[in-house]
Amino acid sequence: MTFDQIVPPMTPAQILRWYLDAGVDETIGDEALDRYALNPRVSPAIGARHSDDAPHRSAVPSPIAPQTTPFTARASSSAAAERATAAHLAEQCQTLDDLKQAMEAYDGCALKRTCQRTVFADGNPEAAVMLIGEAPGADEDRLGLPFVGASGKLLDRMLASIGLDRADTYITNVVPWRPPGNRKPEPTEVELCLPFITRHIELVGPTILVFLGGAPATALLNRHDAISRLRGRWFDYASAGLPHPVPAMPTFHPAYLLRTPHSKREAWSDFLSIRKRLGSHEEKTWPKPVR
Ligand code: URA
Repeated sequence: MTFDQIVPPMTPAQILRWYLDAGVDETIGDEALDRYALNPRVSPAIGARHSDDAPHRSAVPSPIAPQTTPFTARASSSAAAERATAAHLAEQCQTLDDLKQAMEAYDGCALKRTCQRTVFADGNPEAAVMLIGEAPGADEDRLGLPFVGASGKLLDRMLASIGLDRADTYITNVVPWRPPGNRKPEPTEVELCLPFITRHIELVGPTILVFLGGAPATALLNRHDAISRLRGRWFDYASAGLPHPVPAMPTFHPAYLLRTPHSKREAWSDFLSIRKRLGSHEEKTWPKPVR
């Protein structure tokens, strides 16, 4: 009996259906990625191909010669090298354009291989308020702008409720590359991106920072408390390239508010505090909870 008799040939539509039924809901690359080939321990030939000067050097450790650097140590030293590269690149940037180009050119973060775009920022770099989210989602990745999906629409309404819009704010994310399947960025990915967001804040020099959700609050304030404990409080955000600390307010992420509408009351109070700090007493109505 041949394989075709056991599994009859499928039409392209049937193959797509099979993938959907198996839970695949998104394509993240035009070509299949052979992950075995990416690991030089599995495929020495590929390892050699990536090395210009060592066509004869096997990437597989000899069973006799002891492996002097364990795999985890090598992985962490290469992560440290990537962090150093990111820090060096970010430090060199004197303008937002420099920074955007540096981030677009940087390929030390694995997320870059699965996303479509580097989502840099939106809004007005001269604005007093800089809002920082976690990482782009599918809509942001497609359009190359932060907060353009469902949570972005809520963010726009939250800003409108205190008399602001995108042109009065500057919006970006800690991680500029979409994690596949909208998963949370790993701590190592956030750490790689830290030099870029730190420099981003320095180059914008905002009057007020607003951290949307726990991820930016943890990454930038180095506080590990839950967002429910951090929100609504003013912290001082400082970095070497800022002339003075910037007041920073963590608040709930709009995506969380979409799932938990009763928390909008607290987020509203945070936004009123932001408005007050900006020096205006305008108070408008808060968007009604979505039920
Ligand atoms: N969530 C974020 O944190 N950032 C975006 O840009 C979109 C959704």
